[in-house]
Amino acid sequence: MAAIAVYPGSFDPLTLGHLDIAARAAKMFDEVHILVVHNPGKTPRFSLEQRVSLIQEAIKGLRLRAGSKIVVATLPTGLLVDYSHRVGASALVKGVRTNVDLDYELPMARVNRDLADVETIFIPADPSFGHISSSLVKQVAALGGDVSKYVPAAVAQALKNS
Ligand code: PNS
Repeated sequence: MAAIAVYPGSFDPLTLGHLDIAARAAKMFDEVHILVVHNPGKTPRFSLEQRVSLIQEAIKGLRLRAGSKIVVATLPTGLLVDYSHRVGASALVKGVRTNVDLDYELPMARVNRDLADVETIFIPADPSFGHISSSLVKQVAALGGDVSKYVPAAVAQALKNS
């Protein structure tokens, strides 16, 4: 049976830190679903469809081990655990940069476990990506800064164009 994990987030937009977490998750799971979730608490810069297409472009550059694949999907509404159940995922994956991330993620992990007995696996962010966030990237790009060190090329281009 294939081991499936869901890696959820806003990904508005995907950063190199996100991409690293997805690639590392794909070393442990046969199938990783990068799930672009509508977070009602945030005003998005990119539509769900734009985010999906940027992620699809970015993952083309990954060299995955044989037998492993990354799927990109959206969750415009509904519970993450319901999506996870539908696709037969055994775990959720989250990247953690700092204790601030952990404080934010722990309650969600506990709620998801309460709701559907789904475990969350925390992957520590590579230190080279520890300071990168989608919001910082958007701010720097909006003010004319170069974000090409922080995001895949397609994302950098999309930020320039929008
Ligand atoms: O990148 P984000 O915005 O911090 O990701 C948060 C996200 C989308 C993972 C979280 O809001 C979420 O899981 N939303 C789906 C709705 C849900 O299942 N909520 C209850 C469990 S936290």
